[in-house]
Amino acid sequence: MHDFRYVRGRLQCEGVSIESLVKKHGSPLYVYSSNTLSNNFNKLKDALSSLDHLICFAMKSNSNLGVMRTLSDLGSGFDTVSGGEIKRVIAAGGNPRKCVFAGVGKTEEEIAFALSKGIYSFNVESEPELLRINRIAGKLKQKAPVAIRVNPNVDAKTHKKITTGTYENKFGIAFEKIPGVYARAAKLKHIRLRGLQMHIGSQLTQVKPFADAVKKVAPLAARLKAKYNIEFLSIGGGIGIVYENALASGNPDWWNRKEARNILTPEKYAATLLPNLEPLELKLLIEPGRFISGNAGILVSRVEYVKQTGKKYFAIVDAAMNDLIRPAFYESYHEIVPVKQSKKRVIATDIVGGICETGDTFCKDRPIPRVSEGDLIAMLSAGAYGFVMAGTYNTRPMPAEILVKGRKSTVVRKRQKIKDIWVGESTAPWQK
Ligand code: LLP
Repeated sequence: MHDFRYVRGRLQCEGVSIESLVKKHGSPLYVYSSNTLSNNFNKLKDALSSLDHLICFAMKSNSNLGVMRTLSDLGSGFDTVSGGEIKRVIAAGGNPRKCVFAGVGKTEEEIAFALSKGIYSFNVESEPELLRINRIAGKLKQKAPVAIRVNPNVDAKTHKKITTGTYENKFGIAFEKIPGVYARAAKLKHIRLRGLQMHIGSQLTQVKPFADAVKKVAPLAARLKAKYNIEFLSIGGGIGIVYENALASGNPDWWNRKEARNILTPEKYAATLLPNLEPLELKLLIEPGRFISGNAGILVSRVEYVKQTGKKYFAIVDAAMNDLIRPAFYESYHEIVPVKQSKKRVIATDIVGGICETGDTFCKDRPIPRVSEGDLIAMLSAGAYGFVMAGTYNTRPMPAEILVKGRKSTVVRKRQKIKDIWVGESTAPWQK
């Protein structure tokens, strides 16, 4: 569910018209709904309410300060993957003590910083990392709280670039090796074994891979609790969202329809996994990113040109792959709708950006009502891995971001000024 819908033929986010936002702030423009963020967070929280749990929002999916603050005000912790992200948590008014620090490449500086901020746990990805954390914690006369990431070797059945839980992937430590690693870790003076962690992949649309992984890992967690007194199990993130029927899924009635029956919901997720988790009497951590932020955001763009070549009809828009890279990078689908509802003839359209690469394509042969120069379109489900993966390729400025709450809206990130793109750059001294 989400809060983007047509009201009298015009797309709105909650109580605010998208046209009015573009009039004020220009395009391309990311727009986020506070209510959708809160609802998604609360749905997960309610589904897990029978267990002592902590939701650590995977801020890699959307790290805008306004978005993060919306979630930390609801009690969310954060799944962080760099020293920069931990600093962002603090800048957003979040609590580092509710944060986990993950990632396969933690530097010495990042580890020392995370320790100084009292991070809840390091999610450790290798034995060399464990030794490094032990050494740095020793220098700081601390005991570092850690969870080791188990790779359960379960195929998440998702896109190959976002599968993480098989032995083909660089993540975690193989299931069979975990007991030995904990035994060695228990002997390290500056390590406190606090938990066990796993994450098998992103955009999972079925519960089965989660269930298989939990069934495999729960007995291991029970053994580690008995032996080392660990206090939590993190089952990672990965709950998928609706991309194909994104607009329709904003309507509660749609969820009673046949096509909605197979969608993974927090209720299904909890009902399937909790029976294996409750008996452990461990605190449960989850690290959802996309589920919370994905359908809470859209990217709005203006049609610059329409053009017909030999066989094809193209709409060239003012957003490009530098603003939303997912279609180019993962061939991912984003539903695209006109901001002003249209009765024009439906025509197979390629919506593309202006960058000189064929990959700069948002959709191919998509049947949408014919668009004209100046029309606004919205790319839905762009709240996760949208702005955060944007860049300035072709010296195009980063788009602005707007947060809406009811009838209120505010700029939570200003559009980048072109001259700020090369701040910090210079010519060489010998170039006079
Ligand atoms: N925990 C860990 C250890 C992760 O690696 C990730 C995502 C998450 C949690 C959050 O996963 P989520 O709940 O958002 O599925 N850029 C890609 C997605 C990359 C996901 C990376 N890891 C995309 O646009 O689809």
